[in-house]
Amino acid sequence: MKLATIYGSPTPPGKLARALGLIEDDVRTRYPTWSVDRVAPTNSVGPVVATWDEDAVERIGDADAVVISSPVFRGSITGTLKLLIDMLPNEALRSKPVGILTVAAAPHHFLSAERHLRDVLAWFGALAAPNAAFFVDKTFGAEHVADDVVEELREFADQVVVLAEQLKGRGFGPDPLTVRYSKKSQG
Ligand SMILES: Cc1cc2nc3c(=O)[nH]c(=O)nc-3n(C[C@H](O)[C@H](O)[C@H](O)COP(=O)(O)O)c2cc1C
Repeated sequence: MKLATIYGSPTPPGKLARALGLIEDDVRTRYPTWSVDRVAPTNSVGPVVATWDEDAVERIGDADAVVISSPVFRGSITGTLKLLIDMLPNEALRSKPVGILTVAAAPHHFLSAERHLRDVLAWFGALAAPNAAFFVDKTFGAEHVADDVVEELREFADQVVVLAEQLKGRGFGPDPLTVRYSKKSQG
């Protein structure tokens, strides 16, 4: 099975890259039947924006499960990540397990980007994993990552993998709004 991890920062590497890397390594180690494909922006167009290659859409569409990750920028996700989301067709995430990972400087912003991502994932009819992972950036500032953080990341990885393995690509209705409206306009 295949996990696509979406790295939603315009400025690699950073704290988010570290957190995501720990999840990826953990899945490769503990779930050897899984492959992991990190989808990251390729072209930097300034300090807060980078753009994505066209094949990002296909790689995410091919995955059995997705981890979507973003640093918190201005109380929300990055514009860079939104650029990718706007490229994705509904089928890319429909009924697909998606785990949410966010990192911010301020602990008070722990729900900010997650909330916005859950709204966007509802447009897709994605199977948003119930428990998101959030960390303050300084968690990944030193060489050593605390044991409880490593454990949280393991639980997060388990959640996404188990959802995908147990549900094995099943689809769920009712259709999300976008599908209903496009059916109506065709009929
Ligand atoms: C443009 C910009 C906006 C940011 N806005 C917020 C914010 O609203 N709240 C917050 O807690 N941190 C904010 N931060 C801090 C980042 O979320 C944090 O440093 C994060 O670790 C950056 O990701 P990185 O280390 O992977 O580069 C902002 C950083 C930048 C560059």
